[in-house]
Amino acid sequence: MKDIRHLLHVAAAFVVVIIGFLIARHLVVPKSFGRIGHYRADAVDEIKALPLRYAGEQACAPCHRAQAKAKASSRHKGIRCESCHGALQAHAEAPSSLKPAKPKEGEMRAFCARCHEKNLSRPAKFPQVDPREHNPGVACSQCHPPHQPK
Ligand code: HEC
Ligand code: HEC
Ligand code: HEC
Ligand code: HEC
Repeated sequence: MKDIRHLLHVAAAFVVVIIGFLIARHLVVPKSFGRIGHYRADAVDEIKALPLRYAGEQACAPCHRAQAKAKASSRHKGIRCESCHGALQAHAEAPSSLKPAKPKEGEMRAFCARCHEKNLSRPAKFPQVDPREHNPGVACSQCHPPHQPK
């Protein structure tokens, strides 16, 4: 009998802990959790309501035909307009509402070097240069048109 009482104490302690856990869980788990899967269902609507920032490549071509056409047949065809010009949904909707960023002459070398600076971790076949030795002091775009680099 003495031994059983001992076990009952332990069982009671377990029950208290489990009930405490269930209460805590009820208080901290968001209401919509689990409604459509193992996550907070309200998050879907919250994300949907965020404003779009990127317009996507196809949005630019109707107004910037020359740049789109040049790029489509160049080695830069795989790079999206907005990777170089920044997020432009607002500009695509209303062009005068926002002046798109454009790398300036003075920043061009650092801008292009982001992708083209010699770096052992890049695939050997990827076109790379050492900006300190490769025509220093002149903006890359003077020799390589950014929409159709050669
Ligand atoms: C509805 C037409 C329209 C759309 C769509 C559009 N643009 Fe423009 N964009 C313009 C106009 C108009 C200007 C202003 C031209 C000027 O000031 O000479 C401009 C200017 C720019 C400039 C600056 C040019 C400069 O000389 O400073 C860049 C860069 C640019 N757009 C990139 C883009 C990109 C990238 C997209 C796609 C995400 C895009 N635009 C979508 C009409 C558009
Ligand atoms: C690899 C980066 C890169 C990509 C990709 C790119 N641009 Fe540009 N773009 C530039 C740079 C750099 C300049 C500035 C050139 C200069 O000042 O000489 C520029 C200039 C422009 C201009 C100003 C007019 C001109 O031709 O100089 C427009 C408009 C423009 N880009 C639109 C676009 C559109 C539309 C796309 C996609 C079809 C695009 N760009 C893709 C780097 C890029
Ligand atoms: C977001 C990364 C990125 C940026 C920024 C970028 N490039 Fe490129 N560039 C590439 C990729 C990707 C290729 C194609 C590589 C391939 O085909 O294997 C390329 C190819 C090139 C080539 C090789 C063309 C040929 O036919 O051999 C030149 C030159 C070049 N880019 C110059 C520039 C210049 C100048 C700038 C700055 C205005 C610039 N790039 C900005 C990614 C970039
Ligand atoms: C004075 C003109 C000039 C300037 C400025 C210039 N380049 Fe070049 N670039 C060339 C010529 C010419 C070649 C081809 C011969 C060679 O490899 O040197 C070339 C080749 C390249 C290549 C191809 C290398 C390969 O292995 O296929 C890349 C990438 C490149 N340049 C990127 C740049 C970048 C990035 C800048 C700015 C930091 C820049 N260039 C500035 C003239 C120039």
